[in-house]
Amino acid sequence: MLDLSPFPADFLWGAATSAYQIEGSPLADGAGPSIWHEFAHTPGRTRDGDTGDIACDHYHRYREDVALMGALNLNAYRFSISWSRVLPEGCGRVNTLGLDFYQRLVDMLLEQGIQPMVTLYHWDLPALLDHRGGWLNPDSAGWFADYARILFRALDDRVKLWVTLNEPWVVVDGGYLQGVLAPGQRNVFAAPYASHHLLRAHAAAVQAYRAEGHHQIGLVVNLEPKYPATETLADFAATMRADAYWNRQYLDPVFLGAYPPELAEIFGAAWPSFPAADLDKIRQPLDFLGINYYSRQVVQHDPGDWPLKASRVRQPRQTHTGLDWEVYPQGLTDILEWVTRRYGPLPLYITENGAAFYDPPHVEGTAADPLRQHYLRDHLRAALEARRKGVDLRGYFAWSLLDNFEWAYGYSQRFGLVHVNYATQQRTIKTSGQFYADVIRSHGATLESGTED
Ligand code: FCB
Repeated sequence: MLDLSPFPADFLWGAATSAYQIEGSPLADGAGPSIWHEFAHTPGRTRDGDTGDIACDHYHRYREDVALMGALNLNAYRFSISWSRVLPEGCGRVNTLGLDFYQRLVDMLLEQGIQPMVTLYHWDLPALLDHRGGWLNPDSAGWFADYARILFRALDDRVKLWVTLNEPWVVVDGGYLQGVLAPGQRNVFAAPYASHHLLRAHAAAVQAYRAEGHHQIGLVVNLEPKYPATETLADFAATMRADAYWNRQYLDPVFLGAYPPELAEIFGAAWPSFPAADLDKIRQPLDFLGINYYSRQVVQHDPGDWPLKASRVRQPRQTHTGLDWEVYPQGLTDILEWVTRRYGPLPLYITENGAAFYDPPHVEGTAADPLRQHYLRDHLRAALEARRKGVDLRGYFAWSLLDNFEWAYGYSQRFGLVHVNYATQQRTIKTSGQFYADVIRSHGATLESGTED
C-alpha cells in the first residue's frame, strides 16, 4: 500500500531530559557530587535556592516515567548519564550501583519498544574533576574518553544512538564566560580554552567509539538563526559575529577543521592560537548531528554589549515564552536548511525543542496548556517543511518529557509534556502531550489537518 504519511515509519518521535534536571538523589548509592550539585548548593546561584536534590525523583520513579512515554506513543527517548554516578571521582573507580541504574533504564525502554539516545555529557561534570581545573585542564579530553569507553562497553549492545556533548556553547558561555551556570566562572581568557578542550573531548570520545562501538555517534548543539535588525553594515557585521559565536564556533571546527575568523575579533587579546594538530583531530566524521532549537535572534550593533558588541532586538508583536524567548517556528526550517547547506548533507535530529509557559492550574485531573500545544504544532510543521525541502531529518525530541529543574531558574519554568506536582510527585499528561501522542499515532497526518487558530 502506498504510504502517504507526512513522516516515514522509521521517524523517531521522542522526548528529551537530562540527569541532573530530573533524577534527584544526586549522591545516592555511592555517587559523587557534580558541579551542578555544588553550584545549586551555593547561596545565590539558583532562583529561590532550588537544587536537584529531589527534582522529579526519576531515580526512583523511572518505571512510572517509562510507562508515561508509552502512553505518549514515543518510540525514542533522549536522556543523559550522570558521570559522577558512574565514576564518583570522575575517573578511576567505577561505581557499579550507579551504572546499574542506567542498565535498568535502558532495559525497560527496550521492553517498551522505545529507542534510547544517550547523551554522555549534559553539563554535570564530576565536582572532583572541576577541582582539578575541569574543562580548563587539557587532561579533560582523556578523562572524558575514559568515561565514555566505560559506557560504550556497558551499553553499546543495546544503545544505538550516542551523543558526546550537549550544547558546548552553553557549557562555556554560561559556565566560563558569563558565570550564570556551573561552574560559575567569568573569565574571558579561560573561555576559549574550555571550548577547545570540550571539542578535543568530543573528538576523543568519537575516536574511542570508532575503536569499539557498533552503531552511531554524534554531537548536539544549540542553534539560533540570526537576522539583522536593519540593512546597515553595522547590524550586518553584528549579525555575523553573533552567528559565528553561537552557531559556527563549534560546528566549523567539527566539520571544517577551523574556527570562524570572527572569534579572534570577538575575543581580542583573549583569543589564543591553537595547534593545527588539535583541529585535525577535532574534525572526526560524525554519524549525525543533533540540533536543539528554541528561538531566533534579531541582532543589532551594540557597543555596550560584551563581548559581542551585538544584542537582541525584542520583537514586541511576537509571542514570547516564560523565559522571554520569541516563538519563531520558521527559524527551525531556516536553521535545518542552513546546516544542510553549510555542513551537509548529513542525518539530522531535532534533539530538543519546546517552550516554558505558565500552565494554568489543573481542572479535575486535566492540565491544559494551549500555548505549548501551538508551539509544538507549529514547530513540527516547520520540521516537516524542512524535510520537504530536502533536509535529512530523522527524528524529533520534544523538550521535555517532564517539568523539571531548569538550571539557574530552578523550578520556576515548566517545559514538560507532563506536569509534575513537586509536592506529591504526581504526574499528569498535559493536553500538549495528548496532542503529541495523536501526531505520533498518525505519523504526522494530524499536523496537516489541524485547526489554524
Ligand atoms: C537547553 C538545555 C536543556 C534545557 C533547555 C530549556 O539549553 O539543553 O537542558 O535547559 O535548554
